[in-house]
Amino acid sequence: MRRPKILVFAGSIRTGSLNGRLAALAAKELGLLAVDVTRISLADYPLPLYDGDTETASGPPDNAKRLKRQLAAHHGIFIASPEYNASITPLLKNTLDWISRVREAGEQPRAAFRDRVFALGAASNGTYGGYRSLIALRHVLELGCGALVLPDQVAIRNAASAFDEAENLRDTGDAERLRSMLARLVDVAHQYAVP
Ligand SMILES: Cc1cc2nc3c(=O)[nH]c(=O)nc-3n(C[C@H](O)[C@H](O)[C@H](O)COP(=O)(O)O)c2cc1C
Repeated sequence: MRRPKILVFAGSIRTGSLNGRLAALAAKELGLLAVDVTRISLADYPLPLYDGDTETASGPPDNAKRLKRQLAAHHGIFIASPEYNASITPLLKNTLDWISRVREAGEQPRAAFRDRVFALGAASNGTYGGYRSLIALRHVLELGCGALVLPDQVAIRNAASAFDEAENLRDTGDAERLRSMLARLVDVAHQYAVP
């Protein structure tokens, strides 16, 4: 059986981002499983704000194509999603919107979101731990992009103090939920990794 390939990224590029830390932890945990892990930062894929005139004039930017190909090259994707006003960040929405506009020869629309599985997490100092951003992100991915998203998700409250010196989660319940969700992500990703 082929090793599944798992892509990990956060919807924030802020220095010290809590969701960047959650993405790093997820990549570390995934590294303990029999998978190939790729962690990227959206900082390496800058994109203009989506505008239909830009798209009409020159098509999706190269970074949108590069990101789309990253998704397409993986069987599972973990996204750590910050919460802004009960929704996802403009960075993440803009990124997903651009990716959804990349359609290469012979492909169905939004091909990069199909035939793979997504898992979601959030970290916030707020009471909900970014939970509401996960609802919004699920909406975009499932209803907008036709993606399969695991029902399991993690929302880390009081996130500024949630990580210990080794960047692991202090709360054993949160740590176990993250591990179990990632194990399921890998399990389902195996179905897409058949040769
Ligand atoms: C415009 C804006 C709106 C925000 N709204 C929420 C919110 O609705 N719920 C919440 O828990 N945190 C909210 N926050 C706080 C962010 O979750 C917090 O800044 C978090 O650290 C951002 O994620 P990051 O650390 O990965 O960059 C908001 C922050 C900004 C800048």
